[in-house]
Amino acid sequence: MKLCRRASELAGFQGTVGFVPTMGALHEGHLSLVKKCRETCDTAVVSIFVNPTQFNDPKDLANYPRTEEADLALLDAAGVDFVFAPSVEEVYPTPDTRVFDFGGLDRVMEGEHRPGHFNGVGQVVSRLFEIVKPDRAFFGEKDFQQLAIIRYMVAQLGLPIEIVGCPIVRDADGLARSSRNTLLSPEHRAAAPHIYAVLSDAATSLRGRVSVAEAKRIIAERIDANPLLETEYVEIASASTLQPVSEWGAARGDLRCFVAVHAGDIRLIDNVAI
Ligand code: PAF
Repeated sequence: MKLCRRASELAGFQGTVGFVPTMGALHEGHLSLVKKCRETCDTAVVSIFVNPTQFNDPKDLANYPRTEEADLALLDAAGVDFVFAPSVEEVYPTPDTRVFDFGGLDRVMEGEHRPGHFNGVGQVVSRLFEIVKPDRAFFGEKDFQQLAIIRYMVAQLGLPIEIVGCPIVRDADGLARSSRNTLLSPEHRAAAPHIYAVLSDAATSLRGRVSVAEAKRIIAERIDANPLLETEYVEIASASTLQPVSEWGAARGDLRCFVAVHAGDIRLIDNVAI
């Protein structure tokens, strides 16, 4: 495995190039993307870069876990060929002032609650695509909205890159794997699986029985019944357009429930098909 700090060191790729962009603090979710990449591409490239432009909260950026040594050991064991772990200056030699139009996909849910977040994701992912030039790139469905926005961006920019979405990886107790989970206090870590317990029950029990508005209210109420959790939003939206719906019959049944929940200082997101 070759560790590259500079874009110019990324040379000697062979065959189809697969790419997994990450912000490090790797866990089983990332490793499932790497595995898919390794299985389906000749050259596997992973980036580790905590992108400052996608953090709308400077405290969140400062606290984001950084575990490079452990990450490199995991990637080496997973058979990765190249790791790109650049400095901020390498990715952004000059400040990136581009403003993306994501066709409204970024105006709901995470986009509404984290202003500027998806523009920063667009900046870094397009920049990394420019540097790595992959044939295929792999993203997790935990960040379902991010995945939809990247698909949109790739189509809009006419990039010849196949975007591969991979299922959410969960701990045995149901908590969706996230780098932020390591920041949870033991009490909040114990409380956090309640989010998926509520979502998975709602996925089968609420649709068609109560209105969409009532379902969202019930889901928030059930999550907040745990005193260590506080719902920021619950949305039921089309999985393809991400637009919130008010009727179950909308979007040809292709619906997902999306939540953001505070567990103490840590903000967790999750989603399920409903
Ligand atoms: O999902 C992430 O970890 C990040 O948003 C990404 C895609 C690596 C861009 O910084």
